[in-house]
Amino acid sequence: MKLTAGILTVSDQGAAGGREDKSGQVAREILSATGARVLNYDIVPDEQTLIAEKLALWADGGLLDVLITTGGTGLTLRDVTPEATLSVVDRVVPGFAEAMRAESLKKTPMAMLSRAVVGTRGKCLVINLPGSPKGVRECLEAILPALPHAVETLKGGSGDCAVDHT
Ligand code: MTE
Repeated sequence: MKLTAGILTVSDQGAAGGREDKSGQVAREILSATGARVLNYDIVPDEQTLIAEKLALWADGGLLDVLITTGGTGLTLRDVTPEATLSVVDRVVPGFAEAMRAESLKKTPMAMLSRAVVGTRGKCLVINLPGSPKGVRECLEAILPALPHAVETLKGGSGDCAVDHT
C-alpha cells in the first residue's frame, strides 16, 4: 500500500530561514523509501494557531493518508505542537505514541521528554515526531510497520485484522 503523506516541520528557527530542515528531510527519506508520496511540505514557527490551521487545512484537503509533524513536542514554553494537534484531531490513537516512546527509551532516556501525540482527523492520521533528525528516524521506524493497516482501517477498508500483518 503506497501512502500519501504531508510533512510539517515546526521550528521557529527553521521558519525564519535560520536553520536547514534536516528533520523534515529525514522524514521524507524514510517515507519515500516505503514508496509513500510526500504531497505537502512546509515549515511553520512554534505558534499553536498556525500549526493547528495548517494541520486542519491539509487533513481536510482529503489527499493525505498521514500527516507528520516534526518538532515542538518538548517542554520549552514554545513547544505547543501536541496542543495544536489535540485541538484539531477527532480521536487520539495512544498506541502510536506509546510505541514511539517505548522504542525510543531503549536508545535514550530523553525520549520521555517528548509529549508527542497521534490522532485522526477525518481519514487522516496526524503524527507528532520529535524535532531532532535522530528522534524522527527512531520514532518513525518504530511505527512504520503499523501504518499501512492503520490507514487501511481508517479509510474504511476491509482491513482484516485476523491477517498476520508482520
Ligand atoms: N526520541 C528519540 N527517539 N530520540 C531522541 O533523540 N530526543 C528527545 C525526545 N525524544 C529524542 C526523542 C529530546 S532530547 C527532547 S527534548 C524531546 O524529544 C522533544 O523534542 P522536540 O521539542 O524537538 O520535539
